[in-house]
Amino acid sequence: MKAYRTQQFVRPDLEAHIFSQDILGNVRKLRGLCPETTQFCAVVKANAYGHGISEIVNILKQDGVDMFAVATFYEALHIATLTQQQSIFVLEPVNPSQSVEEIQVCAQKGFHCVLVSADSLKYVREALKNTSSVLKVHLNIETGMGRSGIEPEPARQLLEQIDNCENLELAGIYTHFATADEEDLSYAHEQHERFETFLKQYQFRDQGVLIHAANSAATIKMPQAHYDMVRCGISMYGYYSRRMKAPPVQLAPVMKLTAPITQIKTIPAGQTVSYGQSFTTQRDTLAAIVPLGYADGYRRCFSNTATMKIGNHAAPVIGRVCMDQVILDVTEIPDMQLGRRVTVVDNDHDSPCSAYALADLGDTICYEILTSIHAHVNRIVH
Ligand SMILES: Cc1ncc(COP(=O)(O)O)c(C=O)c1O
Repeated sequence: MKAYRTQQFVRPDLEAHIFSQDILGNVRKLRGLCPETTQFCAVVKANAYGHGISEIVNILKQDGVDMFAVATFYEALHIATLTQQQSIFVLEPVNPSQSVEEIQVCAQKGFHCVLVSADSLKYVREALKNTSSVLKVHLNIETGMGRSGIEPEPARQLLEQIDNCENLELAGIYTHFATADEEDLSYAHEQHERFETFLKQYQFRDQGVLIHAANSAATIKMPQAHYDMVRCGISMYGYYSRRMKAPPVQLAPVMKLTAPITQIKTIPAGQTVSYGQSFTTQRDTLAAIVPLGYADGYRRCFSNTATMKIGNHAAPVIGRVCMDQVILDVTEIPDMQLGRRVTVVDNDHDSPCSAYALADLGDTICYEILTSIHAHVNRIVH
């Protein structure tokens, strides 16, 4: 099997602290919203939403999850070296751009794969013919997400073909909600109804087929969509897909990102700071340099707007965020010392540098803030 490159370079000075009790607690709370028999699929794609895929799988494999979901075959291969107990679900549909060998490895390793077209089915059937391997497949039913699912009618034909192919096993039927995180759930309810209409035509349950639909938001807000398994990503890491007013469970953010202060200097009043002269000091300013920037996932749009924390003090970012440096105004902060650690992304929802606060500043969602944290940031598990 072809060897794939791995990310080996690590920056030990940038520390993403991962709190294992918090992620385990979040999983327990999310599971607590579901019937006891509902399985829990931990979504660990995108480097476990920036938390470190190896670290998160190593924590979760000991306790409380039944399956891991990843985006790609390559992530699946990676975590297969870490766990043998839980099944691995590859969300990207199998397709003819993959090599025959990759399809065969999926079957041999028991990966759960997604099938969404007759062409892919044909390709997979060819790849596995003359082998004794059986590929576990889930059909992703299009109910309104408008992404990679298959419409109910062609799905019916795929089901017949799967039934007639000894190298394929129907392991699951699922759908994905487009708006479960919104306050108005009417579209999500419509999707749920379409899914129900599809399910009613078959006896999947009698065949031991896993039915699933809920992401984090639906796990929290749509108990009717729990079915046999929920697939949670963002809430496992301690966040609601978007801030909720009165959430039924209190989730704890799992990661805190810190960096050291590597330089402290006084910038005289009237001096411009950083690229583009976007900030001018109004007073003699004590400035601290933090060695992290947009190349590490701290976005350039945080220039002149974001805040970091030093102890309990807020330190505003002044001037442009550079590729690998940020300048803070620390004039008001006592005991400034080189090497003191700064909180860049806090594990407290109310912090001025929570992932939510940064998402608001960047006009994005907390998912993007978290997944942007570069793989070379050192993950330290507590
Ligand atoms: C198919 C599927 N299921 C579940 C999830 C998890 O979503 P969330 O992080 O909102 O829980 C994702 C994430 O994008 C997904 O693509």
